[in-house]
Amino acid sequence: MHSFTELTTEFENRFVSALPFPQSPNTLYDPCRYLLQLGGKRVRPVLCLMANELMGDVHEDAWHAAAAIELLHNFTLIHDDIMDKAPLRRGFATIHEKYGMATGILSGDVMSIFAYQQLAYIKQPLTAVLQLFNKTAIEVCEGQQYDMDFEQRDDVSIDEYLHMITLKTSVLLACSLKMGGLLGGATEGNTDRLYSFGKNLGIAFQLQDDYLDAFGHTDKLGKQNGGDIKANKKTYLLLKAITNASAEQKQTIETLLENDDDDKVASMLNMFTTTKADIQCREAVQHYSDLAFKCLEDVAAPSKRKQHLHELASYLLERDK
Ligand code: IPE
Ligand code: IPE
Ligand code: MG
Ligand code: MG
Ligand code: MG
Repeated sequence: MHSFTELTTEFENRFVSALPFPQSPNTLYDPCRYLLQLGGKRVRPVLCLMANELMGDVHEDAWHAAAAIELLHNFTLIHDDIMDKAPLRRGFATIHEKYGMATGILSGDVMSIFAYQQLAYIKQPLTAVLQLFNKTAIEVCEGQQYDMDFEQRDDVSIDEYLHMITLKTSVLLACSLKMGGLLGGATEGNTDRLYSFGKNLGIAFQLQDDYLDAFGHTDKLGKQNGGDIKANKKTYLLLKAITNASAEQKQTIETLLENDDDDKVASMLNMFTTTKADIQCREAVQHYSDLAFKCLEDVAAPSKRKQHLHELASYLLERDK
């Protein structure tokens, strides 16, 4: 059994040393290499490898699945940064900032196709894995569209928000785990339980991401903080702040949503704390983590084999980047 650090290091060595992109046109592939060499936590591939290792030694196919997942994830980041007008990713300029918008679109597109090429290297029967991967990729697009649609709406409910983050974020964590299980020969019951573990973990992960976007530090995060506030993203923090606000506070929030003043971020952060939305967001992270851990307990494998998944999930919930 391997720890998060061991699997991350091994994945990093295999993945970054053998990036699948040709040399030319370098104007298309340099941006792909640029982003992938900036690192990232590599959480999703490692979840896939760990789920695979629950069943036995890591199968060669699982390395390809892990690479496919990380490529798909990075493709979504390139396009997400365009959609969110984000200047920074992993501490450096985003692809569209550095290389231009058209390159951002095309590098993202080609990266998603290279993800599928990794799946094609898998030697075991592929149908179930491919169907899951396709379903997940479609759902991520749906979630991303809801995320943008919600920017324009002022009546988004918590349930709609949870549905949106399930689609844009949590299904990919769930898919990573289930693919690892499928390629390790896990039973249907176990792959379903791994999927539920990932789904709840993913919800907690995005709640934490929203919290960090508001209260984290750019230096640590490697992303500009306050971006969600500037874009009027309907995050858990904002929805709870609106629910908890007095009539006067509600008015303040509405005015802030309509303006683009320099103090918008600071004033909105102040509303998040005075309405205690920040505390509720942290409680929600804990709630979905508890649900995730419960699902992991239900996975039929010796608890010793599940220990590293447990550690990884705990690390994610305490992360500050
Ligand atoms: C960022 O994902 C996008 C979200 C779903 C919140 P990560 O926080 O896993 O990004 P990297 O890969 O570690 O940079
Ligand atoms: C990202 O959500 C979801 C996907 C990339 C699919 P965010 O927009 O919150 O991610 P960050 O904060 O930019 O990493
Ligand atoms: Mg974003
Ligand atoms: Mg986004
Ligand atoms: Mg975010």
